Amino acid sequence: MVFSVRTFNNINQIGLKELGNKFQIDGDQAVNPDAFIVRSENLHGFAFPENLKAIARAGAGTNNIPIEEATAQGIVVFNTPGANANAVKEAVLASILLSARDYIGATAWVNTLSGDDVPKQVEAGKKQFAGTEITGKTLGVIGLGAIGARIANDARRLGMNVLGYDPYVSVETAWSISSHVKRVDDLKEIFRQSDYITVHVPLNDSTRELFDAQAFSMMKKGTTIINFARGELVSHPALFDAIATGVVGHYVTDFGTDDLLNQPHITVFPHVGGSTEEAELNCAVAAGKTIRRFMETGEITNSVNFPNMHQALSTPFRITLINKNVPNMVAKISTAVSQLNINIDNILNRSKGDYAYTILDLDEADREKITALAQQFESDENIVKVRIIESRK
Ligand SMILES: NC(=O)c1ccc[n+]([C@@H]2O[C@H](COP(=O)([O-])OP(=O)(O)OC[C@H]3O[C@@H](n4cnc5c(N)ncnc54)[C@H](O)[C@@H]3O)[C@@H](O)[C@H]2O)c1
Repeated sequence: MVFSVRTFNNINQIGLKELGNKFQIDGDQAVNPDAFIVRSENLHGFAFPENLKAIARAGAGTNNIPIEEATAQGIVVFNTPGANANAVKEAVLASILLSARDYIGATAWVNTLSGDDVPKQVEAGKKQFAGTEITGKTLGVIGLGAIGARIANDARRLGMNVLGYDPYVSVETAWSISSHVKRVDDLKEIFRQSDYITVHVPLNDSTRELFDAQAFSMMKKGTTIINFARGELVSHPALFDAIATGVVGHYVTDFGTDDLLNQPHITVFPHVGGSTEEAELNCAVAAGKTIRRFMETGEITNSVNFPNMHQALSTPFRITLINKNVPNMVAKISTAVSQLNINIDNILNRSKGDYAYTILDLDEADREKITALAQQFESDENIVKVRIIESRK
């Protein structure tokens, strides 16, 4: 069996090689693709083809994908968390250093000079660019995920005092964070104590305008805010007020909007935080591996709409189901299997929100019986996607 993959945007070829020889890359020529691999293409309003089973976003954020619609159609959406984390970390560390001393203003000024006495003019004018050092200053990191955790650790190594806030930190990431990073349970502590604050949380209804007038009111004078997560995390009217009163000394962001450009105390980058050659490659490789594993085994890693599901495939056939999360489904599935005299070797069922994913490993080599079972599942109104996976194919 060969799977068809439709790619959007320019996906790194080395990453696509991760798919192996059971995949065909069809680009926009794909007639009925099994999977999409996408970078920034906006898929809102896009009609998903009937056969589509998976979408992998080569990157962390998934705002460009209509997750609810995909879930309701039984499409598993993946991202590649952490694949561009090092790139963003380096951009944030650069931003902290750029804010401590006005390197950008200094080079712009020196380029205005001319004449034989440039060295003299430099010595006379350089005082205006004397800055501060970051060693000993306090950095508050909001969101200790793939990016935030790396920044927290490296900022410690640069001599900063680091506070971290993340009520939902994963166990895996928590282990990677230096014991010198002080975890706080109250976001207010970050706002009150930090000289620099960097934010690395996803944008959702609870994080939108996390930086509002109330947040700014708690900060020290001259605080630097660094936002490489999403522009909407910061209320712009409240930010401009905080700059006017000197509370915010510098705002560095990767998300430009008209009101932010050419403003004093604001530095805007053109969404380049995650854009390095290495990150692009890492994201494509991770997306390729994820799609391959899902299509060949039904296992799920790094999905944003279904739980992680890992189970080695050791039976001749596996059926995977995406079903509505309603009572009695597992019993119903088991009954259907036993009615066809098929033995279940293993069943794994996990839910996330309104939907659940089931891996059903069947001790049965008769393809006809497996197909009959799959058809029975397809006719169930609560089951939205059924796949047969043959272990030898
Ligand atoms: N500028 C860029 O180019 C670029 C590149 C990659 C990611 N990003 C953005 O950065 C964000 C973070 O990326 P990541 O790879 O670190 O993601 P991640 O999922 O590894 O980490 C996000 C962390 O935020 C925490 N969190 C969620 N809600 C929170 C809240 N209300 N308060 C505190 N913590 C909260 C989570 O527990 C998690 O640990 C992404 O959502 C994306 O929007 C931007």
